[in-house]
Amino acid sequence: MRTRFCDVFGVDYPIVQGGMQWVGRAELVAAVANAGGLGFITALTQPSPEDLVAEISRCRDMTDKPFGVNLTILPSINPPPYAEYRDAIIESGVPVVETAGFNPAEHLPAFAEGGVKVLHKCTSVRHAVKAQELGVDGVSVDGFECAGHPGEDDVPGLVLVPAAAERIDIPMIASGGFGDARGLVAALALGADGINMGTRFVATVEAPVHDNVKRRLVEATERDTELIFRQLRNTARVARNSVSTEVVSRLAAGGAFEDVRDLVAGTRGRKVLEVGDLELGIWTAGQVQGIIHDIPTVAELIDRIVTGARELINDRLAAVVR
Ligand SMILES: Cc1cc2nc3c(=O)[nH]c(=O)nc-3n(C[C@H](O)[C@H](O)[C@H](O)COP(=O)(O)O)c2cc1C
Repeated sequence: MRTRFCDVFGVDYPIVQGGMQWVGRAELVAAVANAGGLGFITALTQPSPEDLVAEISRCRDMTDKPFGVNLTILPSINPPPYAEYRDAIIESGVPVVETAGFNPAEHLPAFAEGGVKVLHKCTSVRHAVKAQELGVDGVSVDGFECAGHPGEDDVPGLVLVPAAAERIDIPMIASGGFGDARGLVAALALGADGINMGTRFVATVEAPVHDNVKRRLVEATERDTELIFRQLRNTARVARNSVSTEVVSRLAAGGAFEDVRDLVAGTRGRKVLEVGDLELGIWTAGQVQGIIHDIPTVAELIDRIVTGARELINDRLAAVVR
C-alpha cells in the first residue's frame, strides 16, 4: 500500500490526519506517525508560537517518525501572529506543513527556504490548481461531506476528486467523508494518491477529547450534521445539537453574526470536547460519522484500513474483472 504520496512525504501509508482545532495534539499525532500515517499538530490549538514549539518537542518524545503541523489561516479581525507560528514551524525542523483556509502564497518562500514541504488543503478545483501553480508539494481536496469548512460550492468528493485529478499533477489527497478501507480504495480509483481523515480520528482511543464525544460519533448517523454560517458565506459543517440548530434558525430568520456570536464562541466548543457536555457549544463533525461504529486505537484503525484495502482490491474488485 504505497503511492507517490508516501515517497514525497516520507510516510509508510497514504493516510493523513488533518489539522483539528483542540484535537490535533501530540498524543494523537504521535499515534498516527507511529502507525505509519502522516499526522498534523494544529498550530492554533497552542496559545503561542512558543507553546507550539513545546508541543512539537512533546510529540518528538513520543515518536521517531515524521509528522507535520497544520497552519489554518482564517480571515479574522484580530488575526493570530501567523508569521511567528510559521517561523516556529520552520525553526522546529518539522518536515511538512498542512496549510488550509486561505491562499498560502505569502508563506511559501519561507517554507521553501526552510526545507518544509507544503500540503495545501482546499475545497475546489480552482484553488487546488492555484496552489499547484504556486509550487506546493501536494494538495488535499476537501469535499462537501467534510467536517469543518467545505467552502460554498457544495461539490461532493465523488465529483470533486476526479475533477481535481484531471488538473493536478502533484500528489493529491482526497478528503471529506473517508473513514475506512472502502473510502481509501474509492479515493485511489477516483485518481487520488491517498486520504485525509478528521472525524474518524476523533473517534479513536488516543484522540484527546472526552469519551462522550467519541461515543456520540459512534451513535450519530450521516444525517446528524448541520451547516452553519451559510448566509455569511463561511459555511461550517458541525455536529447537530441544540446550539447548532439555534444558530441555523437565527441566521435563516435574517439574523447577523452578532445574533449568534455568543452561541458560536470557540471557548464553548472547546468545553464540549473537554468536559463532554455535547450541548455546551458548537463542535465539528462530518457526515462520515454515519459509518463510524467503534473507537479503536489509531494503530488498529490504520491497520484495518490498509489490510481492508488490500483485500478489497485483491478479492472483491479483482473478482469483478476476472
Ligand atoms: C474536530 C475537528 C476540528 C477541525 N479543525 C480544523 C482546523 O483547525 N483546521 C483545518 O484545516 N481543518 C480542520 N478540520 C478539518 C479536518 O482537518 C479535515 O479536513 C476534515 O475533518 C475532513 O473531513 P472528515 O471529517 O469527513 O474526515 C477539523 C475537523 C474536525 C473533525
